[in-house]
Amino acid sequence: MITPWEVSGEVDYDRLIQEFGIEPFKPLLDQIDNPMHLMKRGIIFGHRDYHRIVEAMRNGDKFAVMSGFMPSGLPHFGHKMTMDEIVWHNRMGGMAFVGIADMEAHAVRRLSWEKTREIGMEYIKAIIALGLDENSVIYFQSANERVKNLAFELAEEVNWSELKAIYGFDGETTLAKMFVTSVQAGDILLPQLAFYGGPKPTVVPVGADQDPHIRLTRDLAARVSIFAFERLENGVRIRSRKGREYLERLKDLDFEMKFYEEHVDVFAPPEEVESRVRELEVSIGGYAFVPPSSTYHRFITGLQGGKMSSSKPESFISLLDPPEVAGEKVKRALTGGRATAEEQRRLGGQPEKCVIFELYTIHLLDDRELEEVERDCREGRLLCGKCKKMAVERVESFLKELQERMDEVEGRLDMYNIIS
Ligand code: TRP
Repeated sequence: MITPWEVSGEVDYDRLIQEFGIEPFKPLLDQIDNPMHLMKRGIIFGHRDYHRIVEAMRNGDKFAVMSGFMPSGLPHFGHKMTMDEIVWHNRMGGMAFVGIADMEAHAVRRLSWEKTREIGMEYIKAIIALGLDENSVIYFQSANERVKNLAFELAEEVNWSELKAIYGFDGETTLAKMFVTSVQAGDILLPQLAFYGGPKPTVVPVGADQDPHIRLTRDLAARVSIFAFERLENGVRIRSRKGREYLERLKDLDFEMKFYEEHVDVFAPPEEVESRVRELEVSIGGYAFVPPSSTYHRFITGLQGGKMSSSKPESFISLLDPPEVAGEKVKRALTGGRATAEEQRRLGGQPEKCVIFELYTIHLLDDRELEEVERDCREGRLLCGKCKKMAVERVESFLKELQERMDEVEGRLDMYNIIS
């Protein structure tokens, strides 16, 4: 089962693609100049509308990357994956937005505001230490008036039947838990407010469990905007969701157009038309949101198998774990080794079943090293003892360095734009 608040059992990624209309990521790889390792290695397996981001990166157009973290437990290697994705897009030219979902932690996990503040700051230090630039927008949901106001307006477009269908809410669900879905939609659309330069493609890197929020937000983006677009063979059909009088405004644009009762057909390159119409919408006070794009990564496996979860300390490596403690956890992790060394030399190991190999893939090794480990493991030359020793060293030195940087970041937090 998979919902935004609970993931249990095996996750069938192909089913997610078939049933929910998530697009497979692989076909896009060729179009990205220098894809991130998580893309190349199939950890990012799906997306929605990522072509918008590909185009923006290629053309040097403005775009944003936004994701949020619920500060209910300490940041761990699963969160680091999302942080790396944000930082990568930030380096590719995207303006980065990082939301600390303290309202969600408070409403859903019932943590105190003091606690969510304290934990949230660790996430902030971690992502800065991982390379987020100083122009990024970092905020606590509860302190961000723009997010909360936008959330309220978006909530006007959602009714109970829809919430029930999307999230399985029932008569026991609190109003606050329902409202945080709107707050998350507010997070996702925040980068497109006029205050931040208006409509722009925005990518939201998340785990597959967050897709219901993405789907809802994409719908809401359209519902609160004035103009809706539909591609035609030779142009774009434009409708107004807020009344016919807005269609009249399109007369100011110098495109070839045909006016009908309920819509206008514009004959010109669609990208150009859409961008001009969005500009017009912003100039008359509309949102003109571009439907947000998303990428989906696989869930990271817990060190003992199963899901990595902040409620099971042995299952994850926290970014704040003392390096030796983390090293011990790695030593006890489940591997893809065989019953005996003899058998392993003969049959080779099974990296696809090994959480150490997964750690290497997601976090610790470059392409060349990864290839070498995989080959030597499969061919029975690299046994688990030696391999684990290397993993322990890598994890320990990574954490040592990261934690030093986090301490150093603490001293220069005032250089960042943090709404707290
Ligand atoms: N709900 C997300 C989680 O539980 C956190 C989150 C809040 C988020 N706002 C967001 C994720 C906006 C992506 C975008 O992890």
